[in-house]
Amino acid sequence: MTEISALLQEDRRFPPSERWRTTANITDPGIYDRALADPEGFWDRFARELEWIAPWDAVLEWNPPHARWFVGGKLNVSANCLDRHVRTARRNKAAIVWEGEPGDRRTLTYWDLFREVSAFANVLKSLGVKRGERVALYLPLVPELAVAMLACARIGAVHSVVFGGFSAESLRDRINDAQAVLLVTADGGYRRGQVVPLKQTADEALAGAPSIKNVIVVQRHAGAPIPVDITEGRDHWYHRLMQHAGSSCEPEAMDAEDMLYILYTSGTTGKPKGIVHTTGGYLVGTYATTKWVFDLKEDDVYWCTADIGWVTGHSYVVYGPLANGATVLMYEGAPDWPHKDRFWEMIDRHGVTVFYTAPTAIRAFMRWGTEWPAKRRLDTLRLLGSVGEPINPEAWIWYHLNIGRERCPIVDTWWQTETGMIMITPLPGVTSTKPGSATRAFPGVAAEIRNAKGERIETGGGLLALTKPWPAMLRGIYGDPDRYLTQYWSRWTDGAYFTGDGARRDEDGFFWLLGRVDDVLNVAGHRLGTMEVESALVDHPTVAEAAVVGRSHEIKGQAVAAFVTLKEGFKPSDALAEALKEHVVRKIGAIARPDQILFSADLPKTRSGKIMRRLLRDIAEGKALGDTSTLADPAVVARLKTQYEEKEG
Ligand code: WTA
Repeated sequence: MTEISALLQEDRRFPPSERWRTTANITDPGIYDRALADPEGFWDRFARELEWIAPWDAVLEWNPPHARWFVGGKLNVSANCLDRHVRTARRNKAAIVWEGEPGDRRTLTYWDLFREVSAFANVLKSLGVKRGERVALYLPLVPELAVAMLACARIGAVHSVVFGGFSAESLRDRINDAQAVLLVTADGGYRRGQVVPLKQTADEALAGAPSIKNVIVVQRHAGAPIPVDITEGRDHWYHRLMQHAGSSCEPEAMDAEDMLYILYTSGTTGKPKGIVHTTGGYLVGTYATTKWVFDLKEDDVYWCTADIGWVTGHSYVVYGPLANGATVLMYEGAPDWPHKDRFWEMIDRHGVTVFYTAPTAIRAFMRWGTEWPAKRRLDTLRLLGSVGEPINPEAWIWYHLNIGRERCPIVDTWWQTETGMIMITPLPGVTSTKPGSATRAFPGVAAEIRNAKGERIETGGGLLALTKPWPAMLRGIYGDPDRYLTQYWSRWTDGAYFTGDGARRDEDGFFWLLGRVDDVLNVAGHRLGTMEVESALVDHPTVAEAAVVGRSHEIKGQAVAAFVTLKEGFKPSDALAEALKEHVVRKIGAIARPDQILFSADLPKTRSGKIMRRLLRDIAEGKALGDTSTLADPAVVARLKTQYEEKEG
């Protein structure tokens, strides 16, 4: 791992400025020790800042690996994100400032959002959606997506958001796994000037999704409707239903442990996992981290560029910021549309103060050149964030100089779909940062490095473990309790959570995240299981066997490299490689498109039949074999295999 040595050489430090040390939402360095001494008291204090319908009897009930937070408490998430604010001066404050890719704009105040959510909650009820039932959401990044999530939360329905870039088949599998009763989609959305025909894809998915009784279709652009097929009786236009919906809807009193949502994410098998998040702990965790990590103040304009289809969008576009009464900027489209300074232009136009994006995006900006941000003022920015993958020190410094203009702290935040909330991060008024390090566990969170024997190590590299429960932790995998146990809780016997990430801890106790240690890839900040891509490939009629590995990629962090053995009678060709890439896109979605297809006579396997992935990774990186075309020769594969077996002992 060359990255490790690069990281270790990084010794620049960036302490918080005097201003940050005195004015941040949390300025007391003693908070780490106090939270450690009494984590339940720590979370209890944040919970009290929210609005509860009934108080809790105990902060935590922990029977590893099953946690219940705020036991007996009752609350409603949408009431905390909306009703709580419309009773104050925030009533007329912008909640969502939205820009579509073509340039259309909308602003919803807290009052507007409150009315829209209440009305849509009534629409869902009128179509028979009951408390506890699942609602699938397959939408572009439009305000209606946030509205639909909050409306589900209001009536106690469980949402399952499916990223709009996923294929019909991926959507269908997720609907079926959750047995969703209703789907909200749109005629389409915009990406790089093209229409993404979501309803058309949804129709394809629905052909094999009998649990869906009703479909609600948002018209993305009233002035430019996208042609769709409407199935009478099943499909309804959002705007028509909303015309007749009452604008007041009492929020349901939900138990703190009632399910809030399911979000599917890739794991080490071919089948994505439906990560289950509940109500009380999740809201407390996202509320607290948003407040302290992003330091939100009343006049901030906060922009997290993630799509709401990923967990980052759930926690830090919708729930955390709205629970804090923030003004949230949302943008539908691509960062380079129509020009490579779209983000910087938008930051100036909206006066964005806090900006949260991914290293992949930052590396793309670096590649595009400093002239794009240099054209803009960017002087409203005061804090920058990073999430989704390790940020290399070069990208960190570039971000600091060219976007932060050496004025803004950077919070590199490590967390996962499963953790629900940020777990390792600087506190901008407290923690000195080092480029490339996510620094320390958030107060109240316990993280450590364990060696192969499962022992805690103070400094050095190993597996990242979370040793105490935290409020926004996943409560299970939907419909698969066994997988929940084996995936996260069986690596160690002391009730510690296995993250699947490798990391090291330095002399100052700072964490440096090093990427996944399991068969999960992180491509441009998106999680992808190698097995998922392999299943998609072997589904093609020409493919006998496939093995997928990640290889490093300058911008995306990792890229998909696929080794493919063809069935008798088929010959490798560029055209076939293209067809296989397209097949993966059709099966999973564009995020899974392999960068490279390598045809191989044979896949190197150990005697016990396991694919030698380390060898494949070395080949994909160009380390084991300069010219990969020779892989078509079985003798070459056999020779490599022997060399590796000797090396590995
Ligand atoms: C990786 C995204 C290094 C990590 C919130 C984790 C990171 C996976 C960081 C979760 C970071 C996320 N530094 N690696 N700051 N943030 N990761 O579920 O490998 O889409 O396990 O959640 O992304 O991805 P997920």
